[in-house]
Amino acid sequence: MIKVAPSLLASDFSCLAEEIRTVETADFLHLDVMDGHFVPNLTIGPCVVECLRPHTDLPFDTHLMIDNPLKYIEPFAKSGSDYITVHMEQPDDIKQCISLIQSFGKKAGLAISPDTPIDVLKPYLNEISIITVMSVYPGFGGQKFIETTYDKVVGIAKMIQDKDILLSVDGGVNAENARKLEACGASVAVAGSSVFGVNNRAAAIMDIRGE
Ligand code: DX5
Ligand code: ZN
Repeated sequence: MIKVAPSLLASDFSCLAEEIRTVETADFLHLDVMDGHFVPNLTIGPCVVECLRPHTDLPFDTHLMIDNPLKYIEPFAKSGSDYITVHMEQPDDIKQCISLIQSFGKKAGLAISPDTPIDVLKPYLNEISIITVMSVYPGFGGQKFIETTYDKVVGIAKMIQDKDILLSVDGGVNAENARKLEACGASVAVAGSSVFGVNNRAAAIMDIRGE
C-alpha cells in the first residue's frame, strides 16, 4: 500500500501543532524548505522544524528546495529531521551532501525536478534511502500534476527494484492519481492540498492509500 506524507505547506501556519495532530495516521510528515533562490518562495527554517518535533512521532521527511544545502544540512539534522532530501539541480556536490546527511545518522534523499532526466540519480543509488520525483515545478503547493511523471516513476522503479529505496512523488498528488502512481511503482505519495485542503484529513489519507 502506498505510504502518505502530508505536506505541511498546505496547512494553516498559524496553528502548525494542531494541524499536525490531524494527520497522525499518516506515514511521514513532509516539510518543504524553500530559500527564495532555488525556488521563488520562502517557507520554514530549522527553528520551526525543532519546534514541531515534540508534537508528533511521525518521521520528518525534510525536502530542501534550497541552493547550497551543505550549509544547512547540519541544522536540519539537529532539529529533528529523519530524512533529508536535496535537489539534483542545486550546485553543491551530491556525494558530499549525502555523506554529510548520513554523518548525523539521518537518511539521505535526492529529488529531481520535472525537467531533470532520471539517469542523473544512477551514480547514487547505493547511498540513498529516498528518491523524490517532483510532479510539479518546485516552489508552490496546489499546482496541477504533470502527467509525464508516470513514465519517470516507472523508469526509477525499475532502476531501484533490487534496492531498499523509497520512491516518493511530490506535487498535485490526490486519491485518483495515487492509484496509478502506485501501479507505476511509487511507494510514497506526498500530498499537500489533497490532505490539508479538506476537513477530514484521516479520510483523505485513507483515500490516498486506497483503503
Ligand atoms: C512543492 C512542494 C510540495 C507541495 C505539494 O514545491 O515540494 O511538497 O507542498 O503540495 P500539493 O500537494 O498541494 O501539490
Ligand atoms: Zn515537497
